[in-house]
Amino acid sequence: MTRTSWISTLLRDRTLQLPGLRRMSPCLQIIVAVIMPLVLCVYVPLTRAQPGFVSIDCGSSTTYNDTNGITWVPDTGYTFTGRNYAPNPKTTNPLDSLRYFPENRDKNCYVLPATPNNFYMVRVSFLYPDFLNSSFCLEMEAQLAANITFQANSLTIPQVYEAYLSATSDTIYVCLARSTTTDVPFISSLELRPLDTNNMYQILAQGNYLYNDYHANFGSATPLIRYPYDPYDRTWQNNIPGVNPNSTQLAINTTSSVVVDFNHWNKVPEIVMQTADSWPKGESVTITTSFLPDYNKNYYIAFDFAEISPQAESQSRIFSLALNGKTVWNSINVALDRGMYMADEYYFDDIMLNSTGSFELSADPTSQLGPILNALELFVLTDPAPNRTFPTDGKPSPPLCTLQIVRRD
Ligand SMILES: *[C@@H]1O[C@H](CO)[C@@H](O)[C@H](O)[C@H]1NC(C)=O
Ligand SMILES: *[C@@H]1O[C@H](CO)[C@@H](O)[C@H](O)[C@H]1NC(C)=O
Ligand SMILES: *[C@@H]1O[C@H](CO)[C@@H](O)[C@H](O)[C@H]1NC(C)=O
Ligand SMILES: *[C@@H]1O[C@H](CO)[C@@H](O)[C@H](O)[C@H]1NC(C)=O
Ligand SMILES: *[C@@H]1O[C@H](CO)[C@@H](O)[C@H](O)[C@H]1NC(C)=O
Ligand SMILES: *[C@@H]1O[C@H](CO)[C@@H](O)[C@H](O)[C@H]1NC(C)=O
Ligand SMILES: *[C@@H]1O[C@H](CO)[C@@H](O)[C@H](O)[C@H]1NC(C)=O
Repeated sequence: MTRTSWISTLLRDRTLQLPGLRRMSPCLQIIVAVIMPLVLCVYVPLTRAQPGFVSIDCGSSTTYNDTNGITWVPDTGYTFTGRNYAPNPKTTNPLDSLRYFPENRDKNCYVLPATPNNFYMVRVSFLYPDFLNSSFCLEMEAQLAANITFQANSLTIPQVYEAYLSATSDTIYVCLARSTTTDVPFISSLELRPLDTNNMYQILAQGNYLYNDYHANFGSATPLIRYPYDPYDRTWQNNIPGVNPNSTQLAINTTSSVVVDFNHWNKVPEIVMQTADSWPKGESVTITTSFLPDYNKNYYIAFDFAEISPQAESQSRIFSLALNGKTVWNSINVALDRGMYMADEYYFDDIMLNSTGSFELSADPTSQLGPILNALELFVLTDPAPNRTFPTDGKPSPPLCTLQIVRRD
């Protein structure tokens, strides 16, 4: 499996999903998404403000709002090299245009505005279905890199890379580097999303990056949830690989509000916490890690629970959590620990996962109900990044990808 495959699947879902939703008002979209009474539309925050979002439709020449209410802008002002190209009328904005870099430069950068020490998510998408073979390198802040490979005419699913990071200065660099004379790097879209620096993903403050992220929304009938339901525009998927196919989970959901109020809390959207999978009395559930795109890496893992089953008002639900076969938390009792309809989170930030790793939720022998799970987040965690160093021209420091520099400008 390639490192991008789960997000690619997700983007394909998104493409399939949008045409149906586009024709509906935002209010109707919510009804379709969660099957709620009309009155609830009043309570769902439909802010279109997108504070701090930067959404760049590379190669585009127009500014427009998409069906999620996100405002996309051309790349003018964010990068100074490359050429526009709109190769693919078969896909929709923002992926139908791109910027490509045929010049003999070893590196082409986009410069995004940032506030030092604030946390951000950066999302980069590539789609170039009907042109040359291409292979090049993506770098973020000269700390994180990935090799991007495209084969001509073979690709209709975008490759998407996300990184969560703390800005070290007032800019974030996203660069594309060519590896051979014939490579033509390109980019389809680039998104910057501010996170809540005081509460979310506090591990980022130590200079670690989180990438290859996966956000699972258990028990939901909605394939994909993102902005505006998640104000941070994370992408929550309901097709969750790795769950033991023999387990007899029951999807449950509630229209009651679920309180998400913790300090150091990753702010899982309420709509995600309002659905869960639950398991019968006495049953354990195992999620294997064979689906991960990256093995033998350190992971940051967050489990999110909220008791949303009315049954739990009169019956106990107590379970333990094991990672890689080792119990890491005993006697989790969400209704007792937090109260009904209150979110709770358990996170672990240095778990080495390989292809045979597992997470297991096991009911205590005395528990009257089996385990429950509302959401799960997984990220690969880098070592703390060294401070960015500035060569004299202020450009980011040496490339991480193996570069065969042809000629410098
Ligand atoms: C996009 O939406 C914003 C907020 O509603 C609005 O102010 C702006 O005019 C819209 N832009 C376009 C290009 O439609
Ligand atoms: C693209 O790569 C494939 C697989 O390596 C190769 O068969 C094909 O000839 C290449 N096409 C071009 C235009 O280079
Ligand atoms: C990219 O590919 C080159 C050449 O195969 C390799 O040396 C380098 O480690 C790769 N970089 C990443 C980040 O995978
Ligand atoms: C909530 O549960 C009902 C009944 O099982 C189901 O029809 C509906 O799709 C679920 N809603 C969500 C958002 O999963
Ligand atoms: C599911 O059950 C079948 C039949 O009992 C068994 O062969 C298989 O190994 C089980 N799968 C898992 C992942 O436990
Ligand atoms: C995976 O990691 C576990 C410990 O976390 C170890 O016991 C096991 O041997 C590893 N398996 C592989 C295939 O590396
Ligand atoms: C990075 O810079 C900060 C502030 O200048 C300093 O406190 C810290 O020790 C540096 N970290 C490394 C790894 O050099």
